[in-house]
Amino acid sequence: MAAALRPLTASGARPGLREYQLTLTPAEAKLLGPEHPAVPVWSYNGQVPGPLLRVRQGERLRVVVENRLTEETTVHWHGLRVPNDQDGVPHLTQEPIAPGGRHVYEFVCPDAGTFWYHPHQRSHEQVGRGLYGALVVEESAPIAVDRDVVWILDDWRIDRSGQLAEPFGHRHDIAHAGRLGNAITLNGERLLEFPVRRGERIRLRLLNAANARIFALSFLQHDPIVIAYDGQPVTPHRPEGGRIVLGPAMRADLLLTASGESGQRYPVHDTFYPHAAYELLELVYADVPLRDVPLPASFELPPNPLQEPDLQAAERHQIRFQGGMHGELRQAIMDGKPVDIRQMLHAGKAWAVNGVVATGHVHEPILTLRRNRSYLLQLVNDTAWHHPIHLHGHSFRVLSRNGVPTAHREWRDTVLMAPREEVEIALVADNPGDWMFHCHILDHQLGGMMAVIRVV
Ligand code: C2O
Ligand code: CU
Repeated sequence: MAAALRPLTASGARPGLREYQLTLTPAEAKLLGPEHPAVPVWSYNGQVPGPLLRVRQGERLRVVVENRLTEETTVHWHGLRVPNDQDGVPHLTQEPIAPGGRHVYEFVCPDAGTFWYHPHQRSHEQVGRGLYGALVVEESAPIAVDRDVVWILDDWRIDRSGQLAEPFGHRHDIAHAGRLGNAITLNGERLLEFPVRRGERIRLRLLNAANARIFALSFLQHDPIVIAYDGQPVTPHRPEGGRIVLGPAMRADLLLTASGESGQRYPVHDTFYPHAAYELLELVYADVPLRDVPLPASFELPPNPLQEPDLQAAERHQIRFQGGMHGELRQAIMDGKPVDIRQMLHAGKAWAVNGVVATGHVHEPILTLRRNRSYLLQLVNDTAWHHPIHLHGHSFRVLSRNGVPTAHREWRDTVLMAPREEVEIALVADNPGDWMFHCHILDHQLGGMMAVIRVV
């Protein structure tokens, strides 16, 4: 059966304000399916994923967070262009929420689209134990679809005893591809079938909440159209090579028209790791079609209020990502001292950004940007690994890869870099504050691939 995300009903609603409550507690989740024992997890409101939060574009969201875990936490609103003091980064934008503590976030949601929330405190473990949820900001005039569905993909590492494998932040994971798991879930369940009806049009909001796994989905004998990346509308297009690639934290909104035959089944494959391709699930068609004439095409989403960078006037900066196994990092600065990769690995680190290894909570910016100016950042992946690089507080255009202009110059908040790849992004630094800029493979972030960009 399809795992429908349980929406949380907003309470105390004044017009223009949505209020939600998120309570962090230990819980159990039937990650492996109903016939298997439940797995101990950490949860928002007792469920994995956390509740689906829905808000209208331009509305104010107020979320009361109660921490009933035995460690500190924060909530980061991934991809939402919130004021800096609502961004949820411990010791940078707020003090962490203590065990037993309570914190209220409140901000206006400027952009419509598919976003998500998760802790920014020890994310590699807190997100890895199940703390994440989707946040959908609705357009004021929604596009015509029969169903609006969120698929949150996750990848869990479960040991022989049926528990989440420990330790989190394993040294091998830090220096390699991150914590890859052995159990894939969709909306917190091992979902094998997704029911559809012929003629149905679905807005499918894909979100990768995994610590490390990259997904590349192909919908066999279907023709999905990408309409947004990371919450931001993009020129509607067919995915390159028929595959929708999602690094950790990335989202894609698809329009999926159920064009198969009634009573038939069609697989959805994940082929990102060529030697470990598998069938994610099957689209299972009901015996009776929904309609025979498809809905008229209306694919284009209204743009969000993003400032267009002025590429002529843009100031250029280069940011290099270095380290990891099979890299050639000789020396970097860690806690103010020069270290080599061996010393880094010994300290549980493996990565550097512009020659600096992040330890603990970072404060010193690698770049200071002037408010409302345009910037072109050349990101250089000097490593043998993929990295989904995320900037807080802004969306940016992805201009080129290895010098070749991208087809859609898409807006994103997280850009997946292939090994050795160079990617140019551009943005207007229009949100003042100190913003995290880090790899969203959470073990890489833990291992030093993290920095701050300041906007003044
Ligand atoms: Cu999804 Cu720094 O966060
Ligand atoms: Cu990385």
